[in-house]
Amino acid sequence: MRRSEINRLMRDAVRFFQEQRFHLPPFAFWSPEEWRKKGYEADEIRDNGLGWDITDFGSGDFGKVGLLLFTLRNGNVRDPRYRKPYAEKALIVGPGQVTPWHYHKSKMEDIIVRGGGRLVMELALKAPDGGLSDEPVRVSVDGVVREVPARGRVVLGPGESITVEPDMYHTFYGEEGGGKVLVGEVSSVNDDATDNFFLEPVGRFPEIEEDEPPLYLLCTEYPSASEEAL
Ligand SMILES: [Fe+2]
Repeated sequence: MRRSEINRLMRDAVRFFQEQRFHLPPFAFWSPEEWRKKGYEADEIRDNGLGWDITDFGSGDFGKVGLLLFTLRNGNVRDPRYRKPYAEKALIVGPGQVTPWHYHKSKMEDIIVRGGGRLVMELALKAPDGGLSDEPVRVSVDGVVREVPARGRVVLGPGESITVEPDMYHTFYGEEGGGKVLVGEVSSVNDDATDNFFLEPVGRFPEIEEDEPPLYLLCTEYPSASEEAL
């Protein structure tokens, strides 16, 4: 992805979060210059990948296949200094903008529509060969169990949520013809490097073509702690 596109998506996201009255933490707005001065006091943000996360999953067309996420909090499966067993993200999903089929081995997540349009979630169990099973799926939608056919849809409006269990394949997108969706994710600790299993191979983090300076850094781009800062 081009840096100018990432910057534009960040500006649009800040505007949409404001419209939805959703407030981001201060580190969302630290400039690259500010980041260079941060010391070990900000290690929790660096080590646990908090912050901006924008990907087109290698599609080259973010509006069709892509996702903007902001990780608000997270623990760390590899570092016992971080004792948080939970994670929270905010996502912005456009109408018809697909996050491809994937499952998590470890993470269990509630996907919550916080505002905006409606979110379409399609679900399938993992077959023994690792693909999509034809078995129906039992899933909890706001505390009420529902059975949907394999690859069936659950449409969630503002206030509604769904619990995605480990080994449950899911893909989602904003309802066609609707507005952008503000989505919350509340989950167990998230490790994007090792716990996302996509049905088709995709790139989880984009290659960036630097055609202008970054507005804010992505969660994979923080410089190591400045020795001068402490
Ligand atoms: Fe997921």
